[in-house]
Amino acid sequence: MSKETLRVLTGITTSGTPHLGNYVGAIRPTVIASRTAGMEGFYFLADYHALIKTGGDPARVQRSTLEIAATWIAAGLDPERVTFYRQSDIPEIPELTWFLTCVCGKGLLNRAHAYKAAVDKNRAAKAAHPDSAGLAEDEDAGVSAGLFMYPVLMAADILMFNAHRVPVGRDQIQHIEMARDIAASFNHLYGEHFTLPEAQIEESVATLPGLDGRKMSKSYDNTIPLFTPRDQLKKLIAGIKTDSRAPGEPKDTEGSALFQIYEAFATSEETAQLRLAYAEGIAWGQAKELLFERIDREIAPMRETYQSLIDHPERLEEMLKAGAAKARRIATPFTAKLRHAVGLRDLRTQATDKKDKAAKTALPSFKQYREADGQFYFKFVDAQGQLLLQSAGYASPKDAGAAIKALQTDDAALAPLLQQLPVPTDAQAVRAALRLLREAAEA
Ligand code: TRP
Repeated sequence: MSKETLRVLTGITTSGTPHLGNYVGAIRPTVIASRTAGMEGFYFLADYHALIKTGGDPARVQRSTLEIAATWIAAGLDPERVTFYRQSDIPEIPELTWFLTCVCGKGLLNRAHAYKAAVDKNRAAKAAHPDSAGLAEDEDAGVSAGLFMYPVLMAADILMFNAHRVPVGRDQIQHIEMARDIAASFNHLYGEHFTLPEAQIEESVATLPGLDGRKMSKSYDNTIPLFTPRDQLKKLIAGIKTDSRAPGEPKDTEGSALFQIYEAFATSEETAQLRLAYAEGIAWGQAKELLFERIDREIAPMRETYQSLIDHPERLEEMLKAGAAKARRIATPFTAKLRHAVGLRDLRTQATDKKDKAAKTALPSFKQYREADGQFYFKFVDAQGQLLLQSAGYASPKDAGAAIKALQTDDAALAPLLQQLPVPTDAQAVRAALRLLREAAEA
């Protein structure tokens, strides 16, 4: 992998029909970003993830996969330019999920928001009915092991392609942090195989309100499907909640779902015009008409592409198969390397493997890595992997390497370095470990 290209990866769970909120919040920004030069994009349909939420509704998973794939292409994703694939076409992903499962602390998963929310709900139910025996007794009632393991599967999605950036909604930040933790554990045990990913949150992208003014979300049943037919779109927009102010009365843009949705589609001049119209008392019916026309102007051309893809699923199937082949050109050899690293090996190679044993004598060691802030860092860990020293950022790997070299060779190098460290450091432990290293080198 070239050091300069930034790898960006994101997935959408195939459990529903894309709505305007998904488009504005996720699909449109990722499609725009996918055209950025110097960036390598990985976009996928998270259909293994869909099984967690849709238990027992296979037709829905299939339909949603078709709809989301068609949406992405209709919205302008270029499968030639990016790697566009379906998660379940990459058998290496469940394999990696297992490798990661085995280095992931169960406690880490206990702390995942989605799992904790389910447990909290069961606890609350129990508190409300303290003497009811049975189901409510069990904190994990109704929680599948799939829901519990979800963050590991997601980590595998990301780490398989060593993504640097992962554009997600705020609710997913914790999952990216967990992916980092899991990657670091694996790297520590088996060597530096994984890049530590960073969440990328689009600050400027609004959360779209739905028909009732709350966040547009499937769970509130207040969505406007992105590719609903024109007349249907018009009807739905007519149903957006407004206040009861009559035509001619000035209206508030603040807290107006209609206004916020308009803003997400319009240019700043158009938005300014609608703001003025609100102040001048535009009738709600007329404002809805404006909103409908504005959205339709953006969506109509895509709607045609969308419909033709839905009518020709074989085209999408072919695109996805080609995307999977492209993805597997990375995933297959990488997984082979990981299998070897964890010890799943051809038995005939045994004799030649004394090397990695020798390398693994218990000594402190330096580990260099790059963070998503673009800077280069190193860590110094003891033989058990406990962190002794965490460096500040360096502009280049060479600078970081030079600092390591200085520590290894010159006792005096530690004192000035200690001044710049981001976390408190036990200087004595560091000195002892450095001495140990030096002795081993001389032996
Ligand atoms: N869990 C994500 C969501 O519900 C979807 C997803 C699955 C994902 N795997 C991913 C997003 C990997 C980014 C990277 O929104």
